[in-house]
Amino acid sequence: MVFLFNSDPERGAVFREIFARELPDTDFVQKGEFVPPERVRYLLTWTAPEEIERYRNLEVLFSLGAGVDQFRPGSVPGNVKLVRMVEEGIIRMMQEYVTLGVLSLHREMPAYREQQKAQEWQVRSVRQASERRVGFLGLGMLAQAAIERLAPFQFPLAAWSRTERDVPKVRSFHGASQLPEFLAQTDILVCLLPLTDETHGILNARLFEHLPQGAGLVHVGRGPQLDQLALLAALDTGKLSGAVLDVTDPEPLPQGHPLWSHPKVMLTPHIASVTQPHTAARSVVENIRRHRAGQELIGLVDRTRGY
Ligand code: GLV
Repeated sequence: MVFLFNSDPERGAVFREIFARELPDTDFVQKGEFVPPERVRYLLTWTAPEEIERYRNLEVLFSLGAGVDQFRPGSVPGNVKLVRMVEEGIIRMMQEYVTLGVLSLHREMPAYREQQKAQEWQVRSVRQASERRVGFLGLGMLAQAAIERLAPFQFPLAAWSRTERDVPKVRSFHGASQLPEFLAQTDILVCLLPLTDETHGILNARLFEHLPQGAGLVHVGRGPQLDQLALLAALDTGKLSGAVLDVTDPEPLPQGHPLWSHPKVMLTPHIASVTQPHTAARSVVENIRRHRAGQELIGLVDRTRGY
C-alpha cells in the first residue's frame, strides 16, 4: 500500500520520517521515485497529476493546501475522497495574518507608512477596538480560529456564511438575503471564503457599496473572488480606506499593476498561511488511520458543494 507524496522534497523528507515512525506498514514514495501506479492508495498533491486515472486504486487524495479550488471539476475521479489540509500550522499562521491585517487597518498603518515616507509626524484620530466592527465572510475552521484570536481585543465580531451557523460571541448572518445587513455593520471585512462558482467575483462594487464609508478589507480567500478594478475605484473614492491583500488574480500581479504601489494597499505574496510539514504529516497520518477504521475524515470535501 503506497502513499505518494507529490510535492517538494524538503517537506517530503519530514513526511517520510513521520510516516516511517507512525505508519510503518505504508510505503512512502516521493515524486520522482518509481512506483507502479496501481499500488498508490493515497496521494498528496497541490494539483491533480496528469493521467490521474492510472492510479486506479487511489482511495484518498490529500490537498497540500487548505483550498481545493485548484482541482478543476472532473480532475479527480468521483470515487476518490478529496481532503482539504486541516493542520495546526495553517490554522496558527492564518490567525497571525488575520490579526496582523485587522490590526494594521484598525491602527491605520497604511496611512502612517505614507506619513513616514513623507517624514510627517502627525497623530491621527483614534478609534477604540470596541467601536470597530469586524466581519468575516466565511465561517469555516480558519475563520473561527481567527475570530478566537481577535475576540480579546474587544472588536465587535460578526460573520456571514452561506448556510446558518452559530458560533459563540459572533453575530451570525447567512444566505444572500442577509448579506447587505451584515455588510452595513462591518467596518473591517475579512474574506475567508473558499473559491466556488458562487464566490467568484463576490468582492465587487455592489458589495463594497453596502459597507460603511471608509471600511477596510482583509482578503485571504482567493484572488478571483476580488474585482481588483472595483477595489481600486473604491479606494480612490474613499468608500474603502485600506486593503490588506494576500491573494490576487493573477499571482503574481503583472509588473506595474496599480495594486503594487497603491498607498492604501498592503500586498503580500500568498504567504498568509502555508502548510507546515511536521503538523501536516501528523494530520495526514491521523486521517489515514481514520480512513482505515472506517471513520469520517477530517477536512473531507463535499464534492457537490466544492469545499
Ligand atoms: C493556501 O492558500 C492553501 O490553500 O493552503
